[in-house]
This record gives sequence, C-alpha cells and structure tokens, in this order.
Amino acid sequence: MDKDGMRHLLKEHNEQGWEAIWRLSDKPPWDNGDVQPLLKHYLEKGALHLPEPNRNVKVLVPGCGKGYDAIYFAKMGYSTTGMDISPEGVRLATELAEGVEGVQFKCADFFVEEEEYDVVYDYTFFCALPLERRGEYADKMKRTVKQGGVLITLVFPIKEELVDGVEQGPPFGYTPELYKDILGDGFECVLDEYPPITTENRDKKRMNVFLRKEIK
Ligand SMILES: C[S@@+](CC[C@H](N)C(=O)[O-])C[C@H]1O[C@@H](n2cnc3c(N)ncnc32)[C@H](O)[C@@H]1O
Repeated sequence: MDKDGMRHLLKEHNEQGWEAIWRLSDKPPWDNGDVQPLLKHYLEKGALHLPEPNRNVKVLVPGCGKGYDAIYFAKMGYSTTGMDISPEGVRLATELAEGVEGVQFKCADFFVEEEEYDVVYDYTFFCALPLERRGEYADKMKRTVKQGGVLITLVFPIKEELVDGVEQGPPFGYTPELYKDILGDGFECVLDEYPPITTENRDKKRMNVFLRKEIK
C-alpha cells in the first residue's frame, strides 16, 4: 500500500480507515520497522527531562502503531501503555512485545480515554489527525499529562507554510511554532531543536519537550 491508498481509505472510512489499513498491511507506509532512532538518542542521553526510570512512572504512546517506541520505553524501565484505535494494530504490537516486561497495549481512542500519565510521547500521531481535531487534541493533552509531567513531541513533517483545507494528508504538516500555539497555555517548552544526529528526513524533524505547568 502506498500513501495515496492509505489516504483514500481514511477519506472513505474516517477513523475506521486505520483498521482497514492495518488489515491490508502489517507494514504501512509510515512504519519504520524499529524504534525511532531519535527517541533512542535523546533518551539515552538523558535529554528529555524525564523522571528516573521506574515502574511507578506511567508513559503513554498514543497512536502507537506496532509499538516499537512503547516497547523501548518499557525496556528502559518505565511502565508503558501503547494505545491505538485499531484492534489489528494492537494485536500486532502485542505480538511483537511478547516477553517484554512493563508494557501493555490498549485498543482505545485517545480522545475518549480518561487517564493521566507522567509522560506522553507523540511521534506521527498529531500529524495523522484531521486538521479540525487539533484544538481537541490540545484540550485532551492537557487532561492527559499530569501536572508537572512531560510531553515529548518529535515534530514531523515540518512545513513552513500550511494551507488548511487544501493540504493532502496524513501526514499533515506542522511546525513547532504551530504546535506550541495550538497547545496554548498550560505547557512550557523546555527543548526545541533540530536533531544533532543524522537520520532519514532529519531536516524535517524537530525534537520538542514540554512540561505541563502546575496549576496553583
Ligand atoms: C501514522 S500512524 C503512526 C504509528 C506509530 N506512531 C509509528 O510511528 O509507527 C498513526 C496511528 O495512530 C492510530 N490512531 C489514529 N487515530 C487514533 C485515535 N483517535 N486514538 C488512538 N490511535 C489512533 C492509527 O491507528 C495509527 O496506528
């Protein structure tokens, strides 16, 4: 399946389109077959403002797909939930995680689940959502990241100019500036940089870390 095939299914079936995609291919166009190298780099460097790994720290990876990154957080010692709306995606992730401790996969809609986490990591979830859900995403993120908690966003794909309604996606482009605007008050940006290591599409990615502000 190529990008156009994927977009066509999502246009036809909205959210159910994700399940259709996962059923047609266990390696859809975005799937890179391994943990995101930039997550690995930053996490191992200790540059993500994360609490020391322990199983009391709850990490969420929304729109986790096959769960490579969720599995990685669990292997680093965090108690991790990979969440995906597609039952087939969750089945594949669960299969991949066999024998790994500290990770569970949940078939759920990010917008409907009501649970708080210490850390949320978003890679290619925000850009997968229809443009009109971006405000809702920010509201939900505020309820999902605990006060004092951390939101990690690996921004991809970066586009300098967005023409809402005209752009084809997913992935729908955005910039760190736009993401910050959408999040609004409630989050403090503590890291925003182009990745220091070479990876595929490096110039189209930027690592962002936000702290959820404490409400006094
Ligand atoms: C572009 S894929 C990215 C997957 C994964 N993050 C990766 O990089 O391999 C987006 C994923 O989000 C899931 N998804 C879409 N809408 C969702 C929602 N409302 N709640 C949870 N998962 C959702 C899709 O099923 C799909 O697996």
